[in-house]
Amino acid sequence: MFSRRGKIFEIEKDSGFATRVLMLSMPSALVFMMLVALHLLPASIAIMAYSSIVLFNLVWLFPMTFELQQLKKYIFKLSQEGVDNIDNPYMSETETQDIIDAINEMHRFWSNKAETLEAQTISDTAVLDTLPDPIMMIDKTGSILGANASAHKLFGENITERKIEEIFNSNNFINAVARVIAQESDAENLIFYVSKRDNDDENKKLYAHIKHLPWVSKGRAVAVVSIYDLTKAMKIEKMQSDFVANASHELRTPLSIISGFIETLQTTAKDDKAAQDTFLKIMGEQAAYMANLIENLLSLSRIELNQDKTPDEPTVIQPIVDDVIHALSLKAKEHNIEFETNLSSQIKPIVADRGQLKQLLQNLCDNAIKYGDSGTKVKISAKMQETIPLSTSYQVAQGPAVAISINNQGAVIGSEEINRLTERFYRMQTHKDKNIKGTGLGLAIVKHIIIRHHGNMKVTSSKRYGTTFTVYLPVEQPSA
Ligand SMILES: Nc1ncnc2c1ncn2[C@@H]1O[C@H](COP(=O)(O)OP(=O)(O)OP(=O)(O)O)[C@@H](O)[C@H]1O
Ligand SMILES: [Mg+2]
Repeated sequence: MFSRRGKIFEIEKDSGFATRVLMLSMPSALVFMMLVALHLLPASIAIMAYSSIVLFNLVWLFPMTFELQQLKKYIFKLSQEGVDNIDNPYMSETETQDIIDAINEMHRFWSNKAETLEAQTISDTAVLDTLPDPIMMIDKTGSILGANASAHKLFGENITERKIEEIFNSNNFINAVARVIAQESDAENLIFYVSKRDNDDENKKLYAHIKHLPWVSKGRAVAVVSIYDLTKAMKIEKMQSDFVANASHELRTPLSIISGFIETLQTTAKDDKAAQDTFLKIMGEQAAYMANLIENLLSLSRIELNQDKTPDEPTVIQPIVDDVIHALSLKAKEHNIEFETNLSSQIKPIVADRGQLKQLLQNLCDNAIKYGDSGTKVKISAKMQETIPLSTSYQVAQGPAVAISINNQGAVIGSEEINRLTERFYRMQTHKDKNIKGTGLGLAIVKHIIIRHHGNMKVTSSKRYGTTFTVYLPVEQPSA
C-alpha cells in the first residue's frame, strides 16, 4: 500500500505486478549467479545487490501499474456514464495523462457523431412516416427491415423482420423482389393484387417500384420497395365511368321518347288533333325532365368544382326557409300539403354559401312534398346543437351547429335504402312504380353541399314519426 497526494494507492491483487518485477529483475539475477559461480563476487554481496535491484524495480514499476489500472477503470466508467458525468482521474505520468485526454477527445467525437446520426435517423423516419405511400426496406434474405407508417397501416403493424412471402401472396411481386435482391435486375416495376384482410372489404390493386440500393448499406438493407395503392383511383375512375353511363342513359330515354313521337306526328298522327295534343303534352314533360336532369348535372359539377373552397357568407336561416316555402307553395298546394315551421329563437347565423344552403333546403322540402302523403304536413324545425355527429368518410367541423329537420308523412324508407339515398341516380322502387318523376340527383347534390360545409345529415323513417332528414351545419367554418 502506498500513499501519494493524500490518496491511498492500492493495486489489484491479480494485477501481475509481482511477476512483472521478478521478470524485470531476472537478467540481473542471472548475471549475479554467473559472477558468484566464477568466484568473481561473494554470494552475500550478490544477494544484497540483487535485492536492491528488485527493490528499485518495485518502486519504479508500481506507479505505472497503478496508473494503468486507473486508466482501465476510467475507460470502463466512461463507456457507461459519458465524459461529462465523470471526473478526470489524476495521473502523475504525462503519457497516461495524454492518453486520458486523447480518450476523452475520441469519446466526445463519437458521441457527437452518434447524436447527429440519431437526430438524422429520427428526422428521416418522421419524413418517411408523413409520406402517404408505403415504403419498405428489404435485406438480402428478403425480410422487411423497416417500413414507414403507411406500410404498417396497409399491411399490418407486425410486418418488420418478416419475409416478403409471409405478407404478400403475389408470386409476381415475390419474384420481382428476389430478382432485385439477386441483382439480376437493378429495378422492377409491376402492378399486383393483395387479397383482402379482415378489416377490408376489397382486394387491393397495388403498383410497386422495387429498386436495388445504389450504395453498399452497412445497415443490411439491399433494396427499397415503394408502393402506390391504385384501389382508390380505380374506384374513382369506375364511379366516373358509371356516372357518364348513367347520365347518358337517363338522357337517352326521354330523347328516344321525343324522337318516337316526332316521327309519329310526322306520319300516322299527322292529321289526328287529339293524338297530337296528347303526344305534345308527353314530349313537353320529357323535355322538362331533360332540362331538370341537365340542370342537376351542372349543379353537381359546379358544387364539386368548389368543393375545396370554404363557404364564407354570414347567413341567417329564417329568411332562407321563408324563401324556400314561398318557392314551393304552389307545388305544396297541388299535393294538398301544408308547411309548418318551428325555428328556435336561439338559432345563430351560420357561415355558409347562401345559394347552396337554399338549394339544399329546396331539394329536401321538394322531396318531402313529392313523397309525402296528400293531406299531411311538412314540418320544418331548427335548433342549436352542441356538436355535429361524426362522419366516417370525411371531417366534420367542431363546435356548435344548427340542426335543421324536414319531416313528412309517407312511405317508410328501409334502413338498407337509407344508406343508398345519396347515391347518384338512386331512386326507391316504390316511387318508380308509382311513376313519381325525379332524376335521382337531388340528395347527391344535398350530400355534396353538406360535405363542403363540413356538416352532416341523418335520416330516420318510421310509420309513426314519418321520415325526417336532419341536416347539421356548423356555426363557424374550420379555418383552412
Ligand atoms: N322524404 C322522402 N320520403 C321518402 N322517400 C324519399 C324522400 N326523399 C327522397 N326519397 C327517396 O330517395 C330517392 C332519391 O331522392 P333524390 O332527391 O335524390 O332524387 P329524386 O327526388 O328522385 O329526383 P330529383 O333529382 O328530381 O330530386 C327518391 O327517388 C325517393 O325514392
Ligand atoms: Mg329529389
